[in-house]
Amino acid sequence: MISPRRPSGVSPTSNSMNAAQQIIGTAPFTESPVSSPTAAERNERLWEASPFSQILEDGANSAGQAGAEDPQAEDRVVPGKVRGEISLDVVRSLYGSAGGLGNLRRSNSSVIYTGRPPEFPPVKKLNPLNKKRILVSGGAGFVGSHLVDRLMLMGHDVIVVDNYFTGSKTNLMHWFGHPNFEVIRHDVVDPIMLEVDQIYHLACPASPVHYQSNPVKTLKTGFFGTYNMLGLAKRVKARFLLTSTSEVYGDPEEHPQKESYWGHVNCIGPRACYDEGKRVAEALTYSYARQDGVDVRVARIFNTFGPRMNWNDGRVVSNFIVQALKGDDITIYGDGSATRSFQYVHDLVDGLIALMESDYSDPVNLGNPEEYTIKQFADMIVQLVNEHRQRHGDVGKTSTVTYLPAVADDPQKRKPDTTRAKEVLGWAPQWSAVDGLRETVVYFHQIMQQS
Ligand SMILES: NC(=O)c1ccc[n+]([C@@H]2O[C@H](COP(=O)([O-])OP(=O)(O)OC[C@H]3O[C@@H](n4cnc5c(N)ncnc54)[C@H](O)[C@@H]3O)[C@@H](O)[C@H]2O)c1
Repeated sequence: MISPRRPSGVSPTSNSMNAAQQIIGTAPFTESPVSSPTAAERNERLWEASPFSQILEDGANSAGQAGAEDPQAEDRVVPGKVRGEISLDVVRSLYGSAGGLGNLRRSNSSVIYTGRPPEFPPVKKLNPLNKKRILVSGGAGFVGSHLVDRLMLMGHDVIVVDNYFTGSKTNLMHWFGHPNFEVIRHDVVDPIMLEVDQIYHLACPASPVHYQSNPVKTLKTGFFGTYNMLGLAKRVKARFLLTSTSEVYGDPEEHPQKESYWGHVNCIGPRACYDEGKRVAEALTYSYARQDGVDVRVARIFNTFGPRMNWNDGRVVSNFIVQALKGDDITIYGDGSATRSFQYVHDLVDGLIALMESDYSDPVNLGNPEEYTIKQFADMIVQLVNEHRQRHGDVGKTSTVTYLPAVADDPQKRKPDTTRAKEVLGWAPQWSAVDGLRETVVYFHQIMQQS
């Protein structure tokens, strides 16, 4: 168990991890002199001066005084790690009740935006030569908003473009007004002109409910959205990173899936708009690299979960957690024997930044190779939710699992081969699915209490 108060600007694993592994920079996770005590001391001073430190210190004190008697304190001490000279507790404060969620109060008839805390969390002071202007398309969404948090804390200038189809301003409102931050309502299907050094291209709905609601638009986003972002990268000589997906492997005949596998996709099925949209996005990316010399990176992301997922977008993790918290039946499509691998969002963000900063241009899988059947996963979530509810003295109904017919083209197996990510990025997931789930259960419980 870690203490909820972590003032030194380093992750809770700083004692056990090579300090240099925590730096995200040009040579991520390798020996590096960058983690000097001076930088840590500077972060410590910034942290101590920040109101966030007080909020989390209060949490630590109450944990110390009340111990396991205080369920809120227990909720705050899930162990975990993020890479870079970034405090995990500051990252957490941006989506927990001290930060992002603390900005909202809902009742049946109204929503009150209470405004952000009086000060922004401390961002790193970068040498102007190292400070980049970074565009994050889709930055108001689930993954994008976590990426924005990290890039902001690292001290960069961040511009978000998003049409808010599935994203929300509430995911970013803790940065509104910060001089390093800007957000533009824009649909990437249309061109945009900006001066930037790097582009993380995430704009695209990721849940089947959303991408199947308008499949033609999903394909337009896959093609024209990527085309416009690549055109921008070409014009301003920015480095471009595409967030592709494990869906490019379709219902795979190779297991686990290596980047060299070409995939097994049904190009006329209901999922084709997303799968083929991402495949054409990859094809475009490498065409721009070959034809125009654009500096490209491609991440093939496997199932990812965490705070700020939409609770009602039909993705497995949010579905199961919300059903279990309500005591409703957990619905499994199919017989529950299909397998999935789930990674926690902080690991993905680590991997995306490491890939962007690397000199590696071929596709890289980012996912957690821990593999579970959907049924095992459902059981795990029911158990974690029960533990959480017991801590809160809530002895509601325990969910049982029910089965519905399988969904068309749902892949039977999914597990990343992450050898390449290990070799070229020094990256491997640091969060077990269980630890990530514990934190996500707390988040969804807070959301449900607000609504
Ligand atoms: N979350 C996962 O498990 C997962 C897995 C594989 C790949 N990915 C990829 O990662 C990226 C982010 O996924 P996410 O889970 O955060 O999804 P999300 O739906 O939460 O976020 C997508 C964001 O893109 C925005 N957007 C969608 N279409 C747009 C358009 N035409 N113009 C501008 N903005 C637009 C949405 O409003 C939203 O803010 C996506 O490209 C997705 O395909 C995610």
